[in-house]
Amino acid sequence: MEKIVKGFFITFEGSEGSGKSTQIQMVHQHLKKARKPVILLREPGGVRISEKIRRILLDVNNKEISKECETLLYMAARAQIVKELILPELKKGTIILCDRFLDSTVVYQGYGCGVDIDFINQVGAFVTQGLEPHLTLIFDIDAKKGLSRIARAKDRIELRDISYHNKVRKGYQELGRLYPDRVKLIESDQSREDIFTIVMNYINQVIKV
Ligand code: TMP
Repeated sequence: MEKIVKGFFITFEGSEGSGKSTQIQMVHQHLKKARKPVILLREPGGVRISEKIRRILLDVNNKEISKECETLLYMAARAQIVKELILPELKKGTIILCDRFLDSTVVYQGYGCGVDIDFINQVGAFVTQGLEPHLTLIFDIDAKKGLSRIARAKDRIELRDISYHNKVRKGYQELGRLYPDRVKLIESDQSREDIFTIVMNYINQVIKV
């Protein structure tokens, strides 16, 4: 995989209300101003079919979705965006900033719902064709505090109870311990400017801005 990848793949992760979407937008603007070839994507979504799957996954009316179905729908959305957009862009040399990726499934469906994590990683390797991010930034925040920051109507996953969201946070912290070279945990309880400085320090170590 590495041989055909000329660009950089950077993923932003975190529990609800962690501020990751604000930071990814700030980084996107910053790199665009520096005239870097950069695109911002989100998961689930980013391409037409994956956006359709996103609507099924987040619809509050779809209460009966099983954890097995949920896991495979996230994976299906990922398979499509990887093949249709991420791999071709990386071959061209684009810097891809992606709001969530496979780590979200490990944490939300694995640690959160109890789906077998080895299974998630096996299916993950199939749908990503072995692609791993060069850098993953995880924005860490107390689950209750994060949820209280969401001003709009909550989606199907956000509506889950606090013990679920605590497991998600613990899962992310565990990923930081398991993969210290790729995964960097950032304390979200700081000003957005301070967080942005930390974020750009990590990104500058991976790409020359
Ligand atoms: P977002 O709110 O960051 O756009 O993400 C959509 C929701 O989907 C969020 O609650 C996290 C959840 N999610 C999973 O449960 N598993 C996944 O694999 C992904 C990508 C997202």
